[in-house]
Amino acid sequence: MAEELTPATPDESEEPIKQRKNGLYPGVSDELAENMKSGWADTELRDLEPIPQAAETAARRAALSARFPGERLVIPAGNLKTRSNDTEYAFRASVEYAYLTGGRPDESADGVLVLEPKDEGHEATIYLLPRSDRENGEFWLDGQGELWVGRRHSLTEAGTLYGIPASDVRELAGALREATGPVRVVRGYDAGIEAALTDKVTAERDEELRVFLSEARLVKDDFEVGELQKAVDSTVRGFEDVVKVLDKAEATSERYIEGTFFLRARVEGNDVGYGTIAAAGPHACTLHWVRNDGAVRSGELLLLDAGVETHTYYTADVTRTLPINGRFSDLQRKIYDAVYEAQEAGIAAVKPGAKYRDFHDAAQRVLAEKLVEWGLVEGPVERVLELGLQRRWTLHGTGHMLGMDVHDCAAARVETYVDGTLEPGMCLTVEPGLYFQTDDLTVPEEYRGIGVRIEDDILVTEDGNRNLSAALPRRSDEVEAWMASLKG
Ligand code: GLY
Ligand code: MN
Ligand code: MN
Repeated sequence: MAEELTPATPDESEEPIKQRKNGLYPGVSDELAENMKSGWADTELRDLEPIPQAAETAARRAALSARFPGERLVIPAGNLKTRSNDTEYAFRASVEYAYLTGGRPDESADGVLVLEPKDEGHEATIYLLPRSDRENGEFWLDGQGELWVGRRHSLTEAGTLYGIPASDVRELAGALREATGPVRVVRGYDAGIEAALTDKVTAERDEELRVFLSEARLVKDDFEVGELQKAVDSTVRGFEDVVKVLDKAEATSERYIEGTFFLRARVEGNDVGYGTIAAAGPHACTLHWVRNDGAVRSGELLLLDAGVETHTYYTADVTRTLPINGRFSDLQRKIYDAVYEAQEAGIAAVKPGAKYRDFHDAAQRVLAEKLVEWGLVEGPVERVLELGLQRRWTLHGTGHMLGMDVHDCAAARVETYVDGTLEPGMCLTVEPGLYFQTDDLTVPEEYRGIGVRIEDDILVTEDGNRNLSAALPRRSDEVEAWMASLKG
């Protein structure tokens, strides 16, 4: 059994409060320093309620506790990352920390969840930066002081919100260094915490913790399903926004599409869940086209792959391929309808008890049949599938788990994910595509530069599946009617 964590002795050589390096405050007179210490109201919030998912995060911590009895478990949220000089990227807590605490981006930087082993189970503590001290001036002189970055919750407030007692994170590294007993840490987020544990952990044991937390997220609880639906609903509105401004995009560039979708993501959610792919014309054939600096031309297709991320970090991942002038040409429609048919076959294969690979195989079979029928590859279809020859034009897998990461549960073992079986509560994308590169000499010229992907977010239910993104039309004629209604 590990020894209790006790606060480390304060370090005598503690750094003085850093002044901003930007020269705005070259010096502080004694009188001003004294003046800034007082005259501030008590703003403690005393009527807070726990966050809506407090019961779910407690259940997730209980499952983690049951898997690693008698061991101290350390789950960092991560630190701010420098963008340049004294500016930082927007903070996003690690998925492991957010999953177990419900921690919010505006107060999780440097946060760490620790599960302390007890005779039975564990006791959780959330370590956070407390409110800025007004006595020592950090609240206005330190770059992370509240007058620069905004009010944080006090440790008491955080304890109420998260349903986990909170302590000052600045004392944690020292306490971890002195503590004894078995310990594991989620690596890759907080170098300071890892350094404090360096003699006590092994990569192999830490990986088991990471894998457990990835696999735990394969099946979503009711709260998570609700958040995924919220993410999709905002994403649907974001796609409608884009259709309404296609004329402005034609007058400018793909950036107008990216910016329009981003506005929806920031107003309704936390952010986009991944870099928006706004790929007009031949850019659709670049799978992760995020430069988004190209022309948007009438007569071509727009492949828009985008997802809003909610404040709790659940993201949608939806793709529609739209005729920029509102009507598919004959060839565009032929290719689009083939991808639609493949997606229908893929979605039909998503049900409890099915192998994870089934939906991929079902969609690939339809695409291979079409490619043979069009004379682009020599049959029979079985030969094409066996040799994977369709992949010259289908390029990527037909989907992936979806959740807090767009490619969710990436550390799950092959046997529980790719070789696993679908269960109710799993959520995955079904996203077949066909892509004919501009320089592909093996296809007729008129195919070149056409790329089509259709992507929906599918929840496995007790008796089949539910398409969370069904509100966005998919069939070619329905897409045209929907676009016409929005352009009105
Ligand atoms: N947006 C990336 C993907 O669809 O997987
Ligand atoms: Mn996807
Ligand atoms: Mn996508």
